[in-house]
Parts: sequence; structure tokens; C-alpha cells
Amino acid sequence: MNPLPTTMSAWCQERYGGPEVVVQAQIDVPQVGRDEVLVRTHATSLNAGDIYVMRGEPLVLRVAFGLRRPKQRVRGMDAAATVVALGERVTQFKVGDEVVGELAGGALAEYAVSTASRLVHRPSELDVTVAAALPVAGGTALQAVDRAGVATGQRVLVIGASGGVGTFAVQLCAQRGAEVWALCGERNRPLVESLGAAATFDYKKVQPGATELGEAEFDVVIDIAGTARLRALQRLVRDGGKVVLVSGQGGRMLGPLARLTAASIISVGSKRKLLPLAATANQDTLNSLVALATAGSLAPVIEHVSSFDEADAALARAADGHVVGKIVVTVTG
Ligand SMILES: NC(=O)c1ccc[n+]([C@@H]2O[C@H](COP(=O)([O-])OP(=O)(O)OC[C@H]3O[C@@H](n4cnc5c(N)ncnc54)[C@H](OP(=O)(O)O)[C@@H]3O)[C@@H](O)[C@H]2O)c1
Repeated sequence: MNPLPTTMSAWCQERYGGPEVVVQAQIDVPQVGRDEVLVRTHATSLNAGDIYVMRGEPLVLRVAFGLRRPKQRVRGMDAAATVVALGERVTQFKVGDEVVGELAGGALAEYAVSTASRLVHRPSELDVTVAAALPVAGGTALQAVDRAGVATGQRVLVIGASGGVGTFAVQLCAQRGAEVWALCGERNRPLVESLGAAATFDYKKVQPGATELGEAEFDVVIDIAGTARLRALQRLVRDGGKVVLVSGQGGRMLGPLARLTAASIISVGSKRKLLPLAATANQDTLNSLVALATAGSLAPVIEHVSSFDEADAALARAADGHVVGKIVVTVTG
């Protein structure tokens, strides 16, 4: 095997801002830590989380991600990659293994490091592009569906069904035998129905509280759009029903925190629980996604596959907030 290079091409940012602050540059290949794996990245896909960190908003996230500039200056969390070096305490992988995972960041680069526990093996039957689309959005959808306990015969409403998380959530709920209703843009209704939704509505015309959705008609609501009033969401579910809050719009300072705190308070003593979700990167979730996708039971909706040199345009498209499914960026083929 050729020795590893010391520098690599990466999309980096030195300050918070719009897509224009992320530029292609030659930087050092990251050092692998004791519990880490160095991978050669083949493909990544973009997530709303990349855009929040790129912008540094809501401002509260800068406490964790860097007060003046992002500590991790390379965006990209999802990765399909090959292991090229191992930290001394890593036993689960060997050099040459094909992996897929949810990195803490850094996947928009030829090489990236990840804690080994955020990676799983990628079977050869699972295409790199498909694998790269799975981790964050698929993992969030899977954890939302599990948190709600979606089961056969239930009626589930997915709000925000056309984005990365939503397209996975609709498929997972339908696969579990639920009757899925969905709110999405008018143009995306045929797609969302093809993913398994029994009924779809244009979110610009039908919102929680509208007669079309009724009251107490659902066992579960999965709110990915994060714009509806909490009380209106709560009224949608029957007693014993659950509203899983995947997202929440909010102010520039605190983002969804105020809404999520309010949700916990409103739920106290109520038979209709509002459950905030904080999805985590873990191997159980990744292995479930990989198994479903390899079996053909879960298929990411991929709006566009971008070349590495056009990653800035892909970031701008993701920042626009109207992606249908996922945007994948091919890094090293
Ligand atoms: N809780 C967690 O742990 C966790 C983890 C991951 C992601 N998230 C959050 O989940 C949210 C979705 O992420 P994502 O990656 O799926 O985003 P995304 O792919 O960027 O979502 C874009 C899609 O959302 C649709 N949309 C926008 N506003 C809507 C509304 N009011 N009602 C219905 N649909 C709407 C857009 O459709 P149109 O083009 O028709 O507007 C577009 O197709 C983000 O806020 C993200 O931060 C949370």
C-alpha cells in the first residue's frame, strides 16, 4: 500500500457564515487518535446539521462547536469510506475495511478521522452513494420511529415528509405497517405517496388544526418541520398518543431550545406526550440502517449527486432548505 499523503483537499471554513465561507483548500491529513480510525472518504451527504454549524446558528451551538470559529473546520458528518489507519486501541476494524458512519464532522475531505464507535462495516452490495445518504437522516428517522413506538395498524402523521429525515421516516413507518399521513410541499406529494404515505397534504394549505387532519386522529405525530404550535400538535393525537419533536424553529440565539423546554412542561400530567428527540450516532442504529438498505427495504431518496469540486454549490442548495431527500457529494469516487 502507498504511504499516506501528509496533505489533502478539503472544504474548510475559518469563520461562521453562509456557503461562501466554505472554500476548497489543501490542509493536513488529520492525525488518528487512540480510539479513532482514519478513513479515505468516498462519499458524504449533507444534512441540516452541517448548515447550522456552517452558519454558527443558533448562536448557542457555538458553546460546543467554537465560540469565534468552528473548531472542526471541515463540514460533512455522513461518510462512506475505506479504513486507512487505526488508533492503537481499535480492534473492530482493519486497514482496507469498507465502512459507513456518522462522523463528528470532517467528511467533506479526502481523509477524515472518526471515533471507531461511530462506524460500521459496509457490505459490498451496498452502493457507496446509498450508504453515504443513510447515517444522520436515516438514523434520526429510525430513532424517531422507535421513540414513538410506531406499530402495525397505527395512524401516523409525518410533518416535513419530503426532506432527508422525512423521506426516511415515511418509509420506516409504512414498513412497520402504520397508515402514514404526511405534510409536504404540493410538488412533492406524488413522491411521498410513492414512499408509502396513504394521504398527503400541501403544508402551505393544511396545518395542524385544519379540519382535514381532525382532532385526536393519530397515534403518533413525527414533527420534522418544527413550525407548528405545540398545543396544535398535541391535539392531533389520541390519549396515549405521542408527538415526537425532531426539530423546532426558534430565535437566532437559542434556536429550538425554548420550544423543546416548553414541550417537556406541557407534557407533564398529559396523556398526550410531546417527546423531544436528540438523535445519537451509534452502531446499533447504523447497523439497522445498513441491513434495511442492503435488503432493499429502505432506499434513500437522492435529489442530486454532486462532484467534490462542486461541493460549495451543493452546500448552497442544502442551505436553501428545499432539498428533496438527500444531496450526496462524491469525494474520491
Ligand atoms: N433531533 C435531532 O436529533 C435531529 C437530527 C437530525 C436533524 N434534525 C432536524 O430535522 C430537521 C430536518 O432535517 P432534514 O435534514 O430532513 O432537512 P432538509 O432535508 O433540509 O428538509 C428540507 C425539506 O423540508 C421541507 N419543508 C420545509 N419547511 C416545511 C414545512 N413547514 N412543512 C413541511 N415541510 C417543510 C422542504 O420542502 P419544500 O421545498 O416544499 O419547502 C424540503 O423538502 C432539521 O431542522 C434538522 O435540524 C434533528
